[in-house]
Amino acid sequence: MSIWKHRHVTVVVSGGIASYKAAMLIRLLMKQGATVRVVMTVHATEFVTPLTFQTLTQQPVVTDEFTMTDPQHVVHVELADWTELMLVVPATANLIAKMAQGLADDVATTTILATTAPKLVVPAMNSHMFANPATQRNLAQLTADGVRVLDPATGMLAEGYAGKGRMPEPDEILNWATTVFLAQQTDLPLHGERVLVTAGGTREPIDPVRYISNRSSGKMGYAIAEAARNLGATVTLISAPSALATPAGVTRIDVTTAQDLLTAVEAEFKTTDMLVMAAAVSDYRPATTAMQKIKKQADHEPLTLHLTETADILKTLATVKQHQFVIGFAAETQALLANANRKLAAKKLDMIVANDVSKPGVGFNGDTNQVTMLRPEHEPVTTPLLSKAAVAEQILLTALQTREEE
Ligand SMILES: Cc1cc2nc3c(=O)[nH]c(=O)nc-3n(C[C@H](O)[C@H](O)[C@H](O)COP(=O)(O)O)c2cc1C
Repeated sequence: MSIWKHRHVTVVVSGGIASYKAAMLIRLLMKQGATVRVVMTVHATEFVTPLTFQTLTQQPVVTDEFTMTDPQHVVHVELADWTELMLVVPATANLIAKMAQGLADDVATTTILATTAPKLVVPAMNSHMFANPATQRNLAQLTADGVRVLDPATGMLAEGYAGKGRMPEPDEILNWATTVFLAQQTDLPLHGERVLVTAGGTREPIDPVRYISNRSSGKMGYAIAEAARNLGATVTLISAPSALATPAGVTRIDVTTAQDLLTAVEAEFKTTDMLVMAAAVSDYRPATTAMQKIKKQADHEPLTLHLTETADILKTLATVKQHQFVIGFAAETQALLANANRKLAAKKLDMIVANDVSKPGVGFNGDTNQVTMLRPEHEPVTTPLLSKAAVAEQILLTALQTREEE
């Protein structure tokens, strides 16, 4: 599930050296399921051909409003009304100035003026052009008009010197656009709420090169973070090592050990409305971490590692819990429901998601899962074997329903 699926996004491309990066952003939007249409300024066509965008979007590219192929519709009005979100990428100093003035002297500016959709502007230009008081004045005007402006990156410019004015990378732009777009959808069930998700398997160091960990891939936690975002929440993901990409619009905090994870969760918990502890946190860690790599023992003597319990995060949180709805996970290989029920009560959880990781298609690493949700004074609910994304959504919707009953 993606919040971009079937959404109507218009990308306005103006004539800067970063115009080619708009193609990459469009690819990312298309991958998320958006329907994208492109308007180009005449100067933009000097940098990238309309054919590139037409091929990527599988839609005609608008460069001129006076060649009316469809007598039923005026090009800019039809496009402006179709648009649900408008992205101006890259936005030249010139286009920004025109927008600030409300000019409409070509099809790009006319469409921008004619749409009521939210507008996101990504300035990209030479650092002196960006710092120029006129540009700064124009950007301040756009912000005052309710247009969202992404701050350019600082780095090497096409001119061969460093400065502020670079267009941020397409994945950063998508991230930002996702956050802005979601925040505007006030009818989503988790709108205005902060959801904290933990994911991945912690690593407890034995020595500088070895650690104790588990088979968690982080997929379930990442799916929950994404689902919470799609339901309108502001999401922070505390991630133990995982190879997965951060879902767009989600703030990720990286941790390694169980102790790091506890510290990070404690720092965020107060301002959280819902906590989902999907991380596989080590129950034990080596009592001491060797400063140097442990060598093979002489005479083939066995090596004994002394383990000590790690902090119990959920138990610690139970003592400071206020309004937060707390969801734990229980990955078990035997006596699933009995063990999960014990954990639910001992840790004062609002819900525990139990999964039997010994079953095929369930638990660690795979793309599917089947879970049983246990809540105090409720009958258990078992999902069918579903994609982790679908399971994630069911967990959050069940949590919301339970919270509403309270
Ligand atoms: C090689 C080249 C690169 C340019 N890069 C930029 C740029 O990155 N940002 C910018 O604001 N203008 C840039 N310009 C200037 C714009 O192309 C110029 O201001 C033009 O009038 C913008 O038209 P438009 O806003 O209608 O697309 C560049 C010009 C050239 C020739």
